[in-house]
Amino acid sequence: MQDSPILIIGKNGKTGARVDQRLQSLGYATRPVSRSTAPSFDWEDPATWESAIKGTRSAYVTYQPDLAVPRAEATIKSFVRVAAEAGLEHMVLLSGRGEEGAQRAEDVLISSGIPWNIVRCSWFNQNFSENFMLEGILAGELVLPATDTLEPFVDADDIADVAVATLTDPRHRNKLYELTGPRALNFAQCIEEVSEALGRPVKYTPVPLNDYINALREQGVSEDYQWLLRELFTVVFDGRNSNVMTGVEEALGRPATDFKAYVQKTIGSGAWNTTTNPNVG
Ligand SMILES: NC(=O)c1ccc[n+]([C@@H]2O[C@H](COP(=O)([O-])OP(=O)(O)OC[C@H]3O[C@@H](n4cnc5c(N)ncnc54)[C@H](OP(=O)(O)O)[C@@H]3O)[C@@H](O)[C@H]2O)c1
Repeated sequence: MQDSPILIIGKNGKTGARVDQRLQSLGYATRPVSRSTAPSFDWEDPATWESAIKGTRSAYVTYQPDLAVPRAEATIKSFVRVAAEAGLEHMVLLSGRGEEGAQRAEDVLISSGIPWNIVRCSWFNQNFSENFMLEGILAGELVLPATDTLEPFVDADDIADVAVATLTDPRHRNKLYELTGPRALNFAQCIEEVSEALGRPVKYTPVPLNDYINALREQGVSEDYQWLLRELFTVVFDGRNSNVMTGVEEALGRPATDFKAYVQKTIGSGAWNTTTNPNVG
């Protein structure tokens, strides 16, 4: 199985793409999949799972939309069964901190008999540049549900480095790494750092959660996503995840990336450049 590819579920995702790029540059064969690949992989269509897994030796698994959604545990249970039957030798699951549903999904893998790793993460830095907060930063005003909760945002490059370490070095086998950044910040502080480094005003506008969700509904955002954001901004953001963890250092022997370094590299990438980024809205 040494030459069999490593399956990456979430080809275009914030961590999946980074894991794929790292593995390829290290010379590993990969099979990155999502709904838009051939073979395709869709979490909502179990008929697509077996052909994606077949012939791979290990897998990096990112679930959509989020392990916090009520159906995630059952879906992961079915997926792990298909993977075990296909002879998968190792599975690395991307998970979220402080989410009961995510922890139940982790337990499914841990007790499956398949050698495993769990990469359990805080909110990603890249939510500010590759996800739902990008548009607000480009527009100069980020509107979010009001919260002062501190979150030790973790960098997707660190997550990918840890995932690649677990996929390529058996010494990590059967370990859970809890990854955060080195500093806990609230949204106002994050936006202040982004705005200062960009040298242009970006305003943080906190609004009541219900107003935020109602605005999403009016924009036609799915019920599923509305539920998820409510869950994330209430349960996951109640302060339970504010503590800084050392998972990046434990796995890699180097400190986690600071939010300031993330801001600098994102400015360098052009993602927040309002004249060149087509997402400017
Ligand atoms: N973002 C965070 O801060 C954070 C924090 C902790 C944990 N997590 C976990 O990380 C995982 C990834 O979340 P993310 O928001 O960061 O997304 P992401 O990894 O950026 O993934 C987005 C990609 O998922 C693919 N996708 C969407 N629906 C799919 C489906 N039904 N089946 C297969 N692929 C699908 C899409 O590609 P196609 O259109 O090509 O299918 C899309 O490009 C989630 O399980 C979440 O719980 C995220």
